[in-house]
Amino acid sequence: MVIINDTSPFYTSDNPSLMWEMTICQSLSRSDNAVASALTNPRAYGAILAAFIAERISSTNFGHIVEVGGGYGTLMGNLLSTVRAKLVTMVDISPRFLEMQAEELEGLVDVRTVQSDAVRFLNGFQGCCDLLIANENIGDFTTVDGLDATKLRERAVADEPLGEGEFDRCARFARQYKLELPAHGVVAMNLGALEFVEALSGKAGIAFISEHSADISPDPRYDFLQPIATGQPRRIELKDHAEYSIRFDHLEAVARAAGFTVERISMLEFLGVRTDKGARFMAGVECVGNEKVEAIHEFLNHAKEYECLLLVAEEG
Ligand SMILES: C[S@@+](CC[C@H](N)C(=O)[O-])C[C@H]1O[C@@H](n2cnc3c(N)ncnc32)[C@H](O)[C@@H]1O
Repeated sequence: MVIINDTSPFYTSDNPSLMWEMTICQSLSRSDNAVASALTNPRAYGAILAAFIAERISSTNFGHIVEVGGGYGTLMGNLLSTVRAKLVTMVDISPRFLEMQAEELEGLVDVRTVQSDAVRFLNGFQGCCDLLIANENIGDFTTVDGLDATKLRERAVADEPLGEGEFDRCARFARQYKLELPAHGVVAMNLGALEFVEALSGKAGIAFISEHSADISPDPRYDFLQPIATGQPRRIELKDHAEYSIRFDHLEAVARAAGFTVERISMLEFLGVRTDKGARFMAGVECVGNEKVEAIHEFLNHAKEYECLLLVAEEG
């Protein structure tokens, strides 16, 4: 078994601009960015999230908002142009990103920055925030790869106590939440993302999570943007690091057991991507000698692999 995706060394580099390729959120940092014209209602990502939540809970007033892994702080900056918060806590493993987040949010609201791993933060967090956001980052959390699926299944059902090693922690999730695993072969488990969702219990009234999905189902409305999800967490090589796609069905099972109602929605639907002829054309063509169309093509074919989870804590 190999831990391939432990987060800390990579994200403490001095050059954050080299650390990750453009996120969907960053591609939609402003409503007039080129790719926003692929949306029925071109808006910045943070404004889309604010409207999405407001539609569900009929409120744009929050006491305490926590964002983990907020990158440049763009999402929170845009969110705060629509929603109100008394306190915002930005949690990030990278001090450089935290500096940029503080700069981006200066003067907007009472902001606290905390340098920490996301799971460690939640485990030590006293109280319950109103809204927690983890956008396009849980694929960076620890994924345990190279697991023997047969042995893992056997360990999960064995009537034996489990230890603290990664293999047993994965087996514990499979056992406790009856997670589906392949019958044989080599498998990867999104241990960090699972521990993160489990740790949300009692710590957030609402949580929004988005990431590259391992098990997204094709959406008939977007028949021109078919995802290539394999069903299992897949290693994705980026410029300077690798991340893993996420088994959303596993997260969903853990979130329900943690006392949340779960809404699972494709990124295409969340963003409100257009379905007209023009959008179909841009999604399909690879090279037309037009930079804007090519950027939208890349963007749509990236976004089609992503899913979002909205978790709402059940009363009582
Ligand atoms: C791919 S960027 C996403 C940034 C932003 N949320 C967006 O959507 O544009 C990943 C962010 O997560 C942070 N991060 C990665 N691993 C983390 C961990 N284990 N705990 C807390 N933050 C982490 C990185 O420092 C960075 O800010």
